[in-house]
Amino acid sequence: MPNRPFIVGNWKMNGTRAMLAEARAIDRAAARHPSVAVGLAPPFTLINGMAEAVQAIAVGGQDCHVAASGAFTGDVSAAMLDDAGASFVIVGHSERRAGHGETDALVKAKAEAALKAGLSVILCVGETADERDGGKAEAVVGRQVDASLPAAEAANGSLAGKLAIAYEPVWAIGTGRVAQVDDVVIMHRTVRERLFAAYGEPGERLRILYGGSVNAGNAIDLLAAEGVGGALVGGASLTAESFRAIIAAAGPDEG
Ligand code: 13P
Repeated sequence: MPNRPFIVGNWKMNGTRAMLAEARAIDRAAARHPSVAVGLAPPFTLINGMAEAVQAIAVGGQDCHVAASGAFTGDVSAAMLDDAGASFVIVGHSERRAGHGETDALVKAKAEAALKAGLSVILCVGETADERDGGKAEAVVGRQVDASLPAAEAANGSLAGKLAIAYEPVWAIGTGRVAQVDDVVIMHRTVRERLFAAYGEPGERLRILYGGSVNAGNAIDLLAAEGVGGALVGGASLTAESFRAIIAAAGPDEG
């Protein structure tokens, strides 16, 4: 891959201020691996504190609203994330698509709002177990990508370094059931074709991350696979000990 691998921790709804100590330890580990780009997406409540506590890693949100401000109780806008110290946001995570009824059209609108606010975007796609068992994984993910990709204009015409896709098969999230490397390669190729169809040659350079039960044991094989530009990690990003091992799998210790 032309880019540094991007290893991102999604803390989901986990973490109180006591966990900033883990973020500091992850930050120190990231500093020893400059050939790896590292990010952490904590709950909204920790974004500001984390952004002030770290230097080597990017801090991101896990979702944003499409509007910049307004009467949307409980929501947070991309501009607010930026103001709190975030530099990226995850949109379209399957836990939001399934648990909050988010459609491809909404995910696309969120991605565009985030880019307009100056944030980078990690846009998640992935098939369910039934869809995979029914032989529809490529069709489903291809359709999700087509319908949720932001227009390049939202990033002033250049998405380079501003957009990554995370392929996260729903059945692999939090289950300990990681996808086969061969299947990951096929799915990433499908995503790449859609990126090329949407953006042309610049679409070749956008990162595609894999997510779903990534851990220290399987990270080396996954990250070495063709077309895998990094990982989106849930459970194994919650402690510095386990996340550090994944960062180390992505690039050498130069500390
Ligand atoms: P796990 O790594 O816990 O399977 O979660 C993956 C995920 O959903 C990251 O966004």
